Amino acid sequence: MRLCVIGCGYVGLVTGACLAEAGHEVFCTDIDTDRIAKLNTGGVPIYERHLEEVLHSARKGGRISFTSDAGQAIRAAKAIFICVGTPPKENGEADLSAIDHCARQIATEADGPKLVIEKSTVPARTGLELTRALSAYSRSSNLRFRVASNPEFLREGTAVDDFFHPDRIVVGVEEESAAVDLREIYGPILDRRFHCPTHNGTCPAEQRAELLVTTINSAELIKHASNSFLALKISYANVIADLCERLGGDVEEVTHAMGLDPRIGGRFLKAGLGFGGFCFPKDIQAFIHLAASVGVDFDILKAVERVNKERIDRFLEKVRKALWVVKGKHIALLGLAFKADTDDVRFAPALEVLKRLIAEGAVVHATDPEAMSRTKLLFPQALYHDDAYEALQGADAALVCTEWDAFKKLDWERAGKVMSRKLVLDGRNLYSPAAMRALGFEYHSFGRSSASAVSASY
Ligand code: UGA
Repeated sequence: MRLCVIGCGYVGLVTGACLAEAGHEVFCTDIDTDRIAKLNTGGVPIYERHLEEVLHSARKGGRISFTSDAGQAIRAAKAIFICVGTPPKENGEADLSAIDHCARQIATEADGPKLVIEKSTVPARTGLELTRALSAYSRSSNLRFRVASNPEFLREGTAVDDFFHPDRIVVGVEEESAAVDLREIYGPILDRRFHCPTHNGTCPAEQRAELLVTTINSAELIKHASNSFLALKISYANVIADLCERLGGDVEEVTHAMGLDPRIGGRFLKAGLGFGGFCFPKDIQAFIHLAASVGVDFDILKAVERVNKERIDRFLEKVRKALWVVKGKHIALLGLAFKADTDDVRFAPALEVLKRLIAEGAVVHATDPEAMSRTKLLFPQALYHDDAYEALQGADAALVCTEWDAFKKLDWERAGKVMSRKLVLDGRNLYSPAAMRALGFEYHSFGRSSASAVSASY
């Protein structure tokens, strides 16, 4: 099918590239002309595992193209995916102006009927507004637009893998024909008719997805409800960590045992600096706001947000307690991205830590495998090192803020020899307290006593 993708951020690019790889003809457009120019010269504007090779293959097969001319992309396609940003406003409400802009573009540029699919994360009832906007902006009463919601569940860093191996594909529709079209679009994914960059043709059988057809309102709610629940699990684990610190337990032992109960599940129970990124923090706020707008007080989510913000305070309390005076101290900051395997620093806990350390007069030596160039633009005051051991050279303390594999595998014996003081504050619980202490480190993490039985690589 001929498809259009509006918005070439990570969701749009992954959607476009994967659907092209699955055999569709995809026309991508974005108002950012630099981004389109980069894509047209073979570049990839974001770091996302496997994206480059999937894009390369789709380009080679002539199944994907990029244009700044939205009208051209819209007219070429039968179905249009809206993948634009929905950032938070000052009051937490989702800013839907980019969606509104897309509606105007589609309604004025289309020369035939279109299926308009919202993939951007939007509050419930946006589909209804989108349908209204499309008809209000349309110059011809003969043009028919069908609207569908198809929320994405793509994690940054593993988005290509998630697209090809979804747990579920949710399509919210108001008419059966839209569900039929979406089933055709996702047919190659459901039937495994694509070249998988991860498994090279042998994807695990148990990973087969289910296509769920719901109403548009339900589909929109499924997205917000899912992200908020995952955030809730993280904050829950973080409160357990606080309790462990006060009562003498070990959060890794507690959450490990909890997670063995299949009704709970072990994922997203990792205590530490908390969640960041451009999804959880803004989606929680938007969901709280949406609930309030219809008279429902989403108290639990407010607590989730509060607990998450307090993680940074707790971490810095530990830093101050260990260092006594922060001003003038050389601090190695390991990790800037909001999580591993991405260069995204939006709402990254590490950046808040960095900001506060600089405000307190510390000399920060930062390192991150992918996110340094983005951070340098925001915090030119910090010093940046490609090599973690260089960042640790002469440091009074090492602060671990992102769970990168490279940091999990760090040779702390070597690091200890170059640090000025053997002090590690681990915001991601990457190492075993006992092993770190055995190496002579003063080691602080979240919710763990020194007698930890469950240990990581150290
Ligand atoms: C999240 C969801 O996981 C995706 O399903 C969803 O599609 C996406 O948002 C979105 O709405 O677009 P993402 O923001 O890429 O994906 O990141 P996650 O892997 O979910 O991690 C979020 C944050 O939680 C990270 O800062 C991570 O370090 C933190 N985290 C995660 C914890 O602190 N503890 C955990 O146990 C798990």
